[in-house]
Amino acid sequence: MSSPDLPVVEFVLTIEVYNDRTAFEPDDLPASYRRPYWEGRQIQRPLSPTVDAARQATGIERPWEAISGLMFTDHDDFSGSLSFTDGRMAEQWFLDRATPTMLQDNPVLALYFENELAEMDEFEDVSYEQAREQNRPARADRAFIDALLEEYFDEDEEDEMLDLVDVRTPEEIDQPLDEIVLTEQQEGEIQKIVKAIEHREYLAQIGLREIGKLLFVGPPGTGKTSVARALASKLGLPFVEVKLSMITSQYLGETAKNVEKTFEVAKRLAPCILFIDEFDFVAKTRASDEHAAIKRAVNTLLKSIDEVSLIEDEVLLIGATNHPDQLDAAAWRRFDEIVNFPKPDVQMRADILEIVTYRMDIEEFDPYALAELTEGLTGSDLRLVLREAVLDALTEERTTLTQDDLVDAVKEFEERDTLKNLDMMDSDNEALVAGAGHDNHDHEHDH
Ligand SMILES: Nc1ncnc2c1ncn2[C@@H]1O[C@H](COP(=O)(O)OP(=O)(O)O)[C@@H](O)[C@H]1O
Ligand SMILES: [Mg+2]
Repeated sequence: MSSPDLPVVEFVLTIEVYNDRTAFEPDDLPASYRRPYWEGRQIQRPLSPTVDAARQATGIERPWEAISGLMFTDHDDFSGSLSFTDGRMAEQWFLDRATPTMLQDNPVLALYFENELAEMDEFEDVSYEQAREQNRPARADRAFIDALLEEYFDEDEEDEMLDLVDVRTPEEIDQPLDEIVLTEQQEGEIQKIVKAIEHREYLAQIGLREIGKLLFVGPPGTGKTSVARALASKLGLPFVEVKLSMITSQYLGETAKNVEKTFEVAKRLAPCILFIDEFDFVAKTRASDEHAAIKRAVNTLLKSIDEVSLIEDEVLLIGATNHPDQLDAAAWRRFDEIVNFPKPDVQMRADILEIVTYRMDIEEFDPYALAELTEGLTGSDLRLVLREAVLDALTEERTTLTQDDLVDAVKEFEERDTLKNLDMMDSDNEALVAGAGHDNHDHEHDH
């Protein structure tokens, strides 16, 4: 384990340098250093490098104990502040131990030590500009997001809003892009959008504005939500998710207003990704004889979509639907790229199995043989199969699986799938009886 003194010294030094130069902004601080200092939507100067703040920022339990043995450190019992008695010595001590990654992840120090670093070979790739570029903006911090949501939605509305909109920070997203198996078209589209975001100023200059509205189309479980989220994580952006079916909630009167507010929140959080799931809901309500308030909400939604822009507002809009056949022309026309999410072919299934199992211990593992057996299954299905195999093995106190376990789990999955389809046909016949809300699967196991 690395010694705890270096991170604490880095923290104190960063806070002191930040306080000294008013040109620094919260976006220059590493995200973990901002955490102790949020007050509402603000980070006020000067920052006080207390023991508590150091603990929160570095994760080190006893920050003062970690640095008290160094010659240049001090601790004020009364205020709890950490400080340096000899700044020069602290800087030298830090520079002797810092790694290029540490500085690349800390824009404040990357700028402060720019001249020193330029003269050291191992740091030649470190630059303030790049450190700042790759540092997560303050607007993607949980504290900022919560304060913003609180400002927009007052308390009695909050429950409804939590149903309609969900905001995640990049580090609250658990599946990274490289753990999702993509088709070539999907990779191409993602590449394009990453480039568009990178070069949005240029695109604005040349007047190219019709970009940044994607529609993900494909059956359930093919990775639409996961890819949208993973993209936010890769780009370090907040992820704002709207669940359209929640528009039917009981607080209808406020819904159109809340849709509007959701777009305002997205613009305030920008750059961000705004993900609108279940987009087919739009077409369905337009076609049917819905409540006037729902129609109003959907019209507000369409108008808001027209008015939001990646180039001007830095909001990347991603819609998703499991039922492309239900979308009307008005819905299609609002998206400039359609990204297809097909069920995975045999090669993709093998790749997904490989990725999902990479931390598991499996004897005689043959992902290709399993891929051959799982025609028609989605990525989500494959995950379920593996989960069942793992749980079955655990009931026998085993944590090492075999290929046979997986083959068995596939068979079980297919049996269950057949049952599920039978149930659905039953409930079609006797909709009122079977659809009363109980789980038909359980009856299949009754004696
Ligand atoms: N191509 C894929 N590669 C890896 N995992 C996948 C893939 N497709 C689906 N999954 C996994 O299946 C689960 C459900 O996927 P999700 O993104 O919710 O699908 P959708 O939004 O299309 O219904 C997630 O855990 C996801 O990671
Ligand atoms: Mg989804």
